Amino acid sequence: MVRETELTANDLIQPFFVLPGKNVRRAVRSMPGVFQLSVDQVVKDARAVAKLGVPAVILFGVPEKKDPVGRDAYDSDGIVQRAVRSVKSALPDLLVITDLCLCEYTDHGHCGVLRGNGKNPEIDNDATLELLGKTALVQAEAGADWVAPSGMMDGAVSAIRRALERGGKKNTAILAYAAKYASAFYGPFRDAAQSAPAFGDRRTHQMDPANGREALHEVALDLKEGADMVMVKPALSYLDVIRRVRERFDVPVAAYNVSGEYALVKAAEAKGWVDGPRVMEEILLSIKRAGADVILTYHAQEMAQRLADR
Ligand code: PBG
Repeated sequence: MVRETELTANDLIQPFFVLPGKNVRRAVRSMPGVFQLSVDQVVKDARAVAKLGVPAVILFGVPEKKDPVGRDAYDSDGIVQRAVRSVKSALPDLLVITDLCLCEYTDHGHCGVLRGNGKNPEIDNDATLELLGKTALVQAEAGADWVAPSGMMDGAVSAIRRALERGGKKNTAILAYAAKYASAFYGPFRDAAQSAPAFGDRRTHQMDPANGREALHEVALDLKEGADMVMVKPALSYLDVIRRVRERFDVPVAAYNVSGEYALVKAAEAKGWVDGPRVMEEILLSIKRAGADVILTYHAQEMAQRLADR
């Protein structure tokens, strides 16, 4: 009766990695329980999580072919667009979110197109914005309810908002990965999405883990550009940031319990060193207590099942 925080299935967003083919379920080595799925299998698993009361999924694409400019991301027949259409037609009430970044689609693994040849190429921020706008529009046209720019390009939210408005997709919401840190906790994701940068790293655009105030600045910018909701990522090492964002801004706040956070729990559980399900629940509860309204987590289905069994 006097518990201050309640975790429910309704708080959770389930991520899926989608790749071409049929009947494919390829285990991700560093994320036990997580698979790269073909579209038919995404639909099947989405149905199962929806049945447990999880209201939303977020889709990440693993395209057949990657190239320097990430074409599959903004091809209307790209892998994520195909998955969105199938999930929405099978499960019209399930909220479908699309991750919006080029790093899963570029052969060099960077979040934008590159400029300058030879030894020191750098990401061309402004040339990337146009491609992000195109990607947002094809995702929305495929049926995505929310698009989630995750690349930390400057001006991405306003470029996306403009592209959506011009394309007649006024009702598509933007969940901005507003405060995204240059984190070692993304390692397993880069296995799952095959999106590790071929050279260099993401520190030119992702945030320094030492900075808290800067997160508030980043969130303010994204809201000014037209974001409907903001995200802090990763979650567990940044609970203070979640709390500060929650206190400062009156918009929905999402937190991303990322791949490395998931992998730590699964590895220790497999060794018999911790009680995995209890640790999972305590982590998710702490993220909610810190102030997150919604939590993206690879534990979504397992957590929802645990709550349903209670
Ligand atoms: C794309 C993106 C990343 C994650 C989500 N979207 C990876 C990155 O920045 O390298 C990481 C998610 C996770 O670790 O679970 N930019």
